[in-house]
Amino acid sequence: MTDQAGRRPLIAGNWKMNGLKAEGLALADAVLAGVRGSAWRCELLVCPPATLLSLIGERLKGSPVRLGAQDCHPKPNGAHTGDIAAPMLADIGCRFVIVGHSERRADHNESDGLVKAKAEAAMAASLIPILCVGETLAVRDRGDALSVVAAQLAASLPAGASADKLVVAYEPVWAIGTGRTPTAADIGAMHQALRAALKHHLGAESDRMRILYGGSVKGSNAVEILAVDGVDGALIGGASLKAEEFLTIARACA
Ligand code: PGA
Repeated sequence: MTDQAGRRPLIAGNWKMNGLKAEGLALADAVLAGVRGSAWRCELLVCPPATLLSLIGERLKGSPVRLGAQDCHPKPNGAHTGDIAAPMLADIGCRFVIVGHSERRADHNESDGLVKAKAEAAMAASLIPILCVGETLAVRDRGDALSVVAAQLAASLPAGASADKLVVAYEPVWAIGTGRTPTAADIGAMHQALRAALKHHLGAESDRMRILYGGSVKGSNAVEILAVDGVDGALIGGASLKAEEFLTIARACA
């Protein structure tokens, strides 16, 4: 992988709904132990569950590992029981927030419009949304993946998006947590289509926007996936729960 158009690779761990305090701290400490002492070409990020954000954030202070959340509400405050607003996340040290992950789209019926509103709320709170898009297996099998995912991106793209304010993640739904990944050629074709779509909507500015790949990235396939033209990093679920796997993927950027 080259730093294409000055895009610094981002290696992001999505811990999902995993970890009690002791496990989260042990994982963060193990990542930090592996990170210290080396200069990292990529930007490193962990997205623990909401209950651990403050705790892990304290641990990460002064380190090169950034803190991110897994979701936010589209409103900055108000009567929304159980939800978390983007300014609250910024207030406890988050720099990023994942929006539109396929598990939220499926489990909570999140539409493109809602995802767009969440991304806009994140940007308004000076957080960088990581906007997830990706096709189901049925869409891939009928040969519509490129057009469906480009349309999903267009419908969830926040107003005012720019390279410094937004990250896009291509995550085929059928590759998440399954151990299956698209071929390098298919990943490359999708990233090319997404970059073309970004250019269409945002102009030349989008050349510097990072597009990550996510879905069953692990230590053993990271070199191949991160070498695909147009892949600017990875969003990692299962493998980010093991510090050594996460660090192996980060080293694959070198
Ligand atoms: P996975 O998840 O790495 O476990 O496939 C990726 C994701 O959901 O972001």
